[in-house]
Amino acid sequence: MALSTLDDLLADGVRGRYVLVRSDLNVPLDGATVTDDGRIRASLPVIARLASEGARVLVAAHLGRPKGAPEAKYSLRPAADRMAELASFPVTLAADTTGEAAQAAAAELPEGQVLILENVRFDARETSKDDAEREAFAAELAALTGDNGAYVDDAFGAVHRRHASVYDIARLLPSYQGDLVRTELEVLRKLTSDTQRPYVVVLGGSKVSDKLAVIDNLIGKADTILVGGGMLFTFLAAQGHAVGASLLEADQIPAVQAYLERAAEAGTTFVLPTDIVVAATFGAEAAHETVPAEAIEGSSFAASGLGLDIGPESGRAFAEQIRAARTVFWNGPMGVFEFPAFAEGTRAVAGALTEATAAGAFTVVGGGDSAAAVRSLGFEDSQFGHISTGGGASLEYLEGKELPGLTALDS
Ligand code: 3PG
Repeated sequence: MALSTLDDLLADGVRGRYVLVRSDLNVPLDGATVTDDGRIRASLPVIARLASEGARVLVAAHLGRPKGAPEAKYSLRPAADRMAELASFPVTLAADTTGEAAQAAAAELPEGQVLILENVRFDARETSKDDAEREAFAAELAALTGDNGAYVDDAFGAVHRRHASVYDIARLLPSYQGDLVRTELEVLRKLTSDTQRPYVVVLGGSKVSDKLAVIDNLIGKADTILVGGGMLFTFLAAQGHAVGASLLEADQIPAVQAYLERAAEAGTTFVLPTDIVVAATFGAEAAHETVPAEAIEGSSFAASGLGLDIGPESGRAFAEQIRAARTVFWNGPMGVFEFPAFAEGTRAVAGALTEATAAGAFTVVGGGDSAAAVRSLGFEDSQFGHISTGGGASLEYLEGKELPGLTALDS
């Protein structure tokens, strides 16, 4: 059965009806300031379409990983305030998620207005492993929509989570796929079928263990995999190099060695950095120097030095590979881009993606950290083919995994 879409819901008519939209408003914060509002901007079109058609829009969303109880630092207040600034219709935040405050605010919500429910993860049942607990919470969410409600899943970044507001709710209300989820899936499908070659994948970020499944699935599919970020040190260690005090997941070395061997047989080339920016300590002002990748402990900081970025020679080599590609998928920064001294590797990769895009390649920046990185380095969204709102979700899609948020809509 084809998935029902937002267009189908709007065709049925929403004036006066309560529509619960699951959005991904999990944005980075500096205190109460949203430092990258990309996910809020990406969530607005669906909310705006519903509001302009006269729906009473309830938005369910999470922020961070609170432990199942309210915590001020995980409040959706900053995200709600930012949405209110960007929106052309009233947006308010309920003081709780499904409690008395949310019930009262929902009951009074006028047509064409938006009420954001407080962080769904303030309730432990949202993420519970116990089906009955999740279902009970989903039922409370559904009850806020009265007897003619509907559910729209537009939280692409959370479709890989089997959570009450993503998965169980879709079994309780007539359910529709939001435009953001649809667009994201169209883009990711282009990475998995009829892919234009060369297909270059750039992987970074801190943990190799988070990337093993996607690496496993990309071997034989990608032509080249460029490896940066904290995970590169486990690759260097797998090749027998000492990595000083750099991030290392020693227990993953055998898995990485197996991937390197399999890739050679499958025609996928792993490209590792040839130089590394090594620092004395972890900090924005740390003393640092660039050394060959196989001589990290040869820096002035000896075995206590830690790699915080790929070096300039590697940045140029990665950029060359990216510029020659017809398809590029990038997930994970190359270094600690939040510190200017260690942002150059990430800048080189981002810059090369913009050049590849301008030359007609299909480029996708996957996920939270990489999306925040390109924006904080001053690049515009329009310089890339697509900036995904989903980090983990886009990786799990490329891993070939079933995504609970999508299966729920399909059932
Ligand atoms: C994300 O940041 O990738 C999504 O919002 C999902 O968040 P989570 O990893 O905490 O479930």
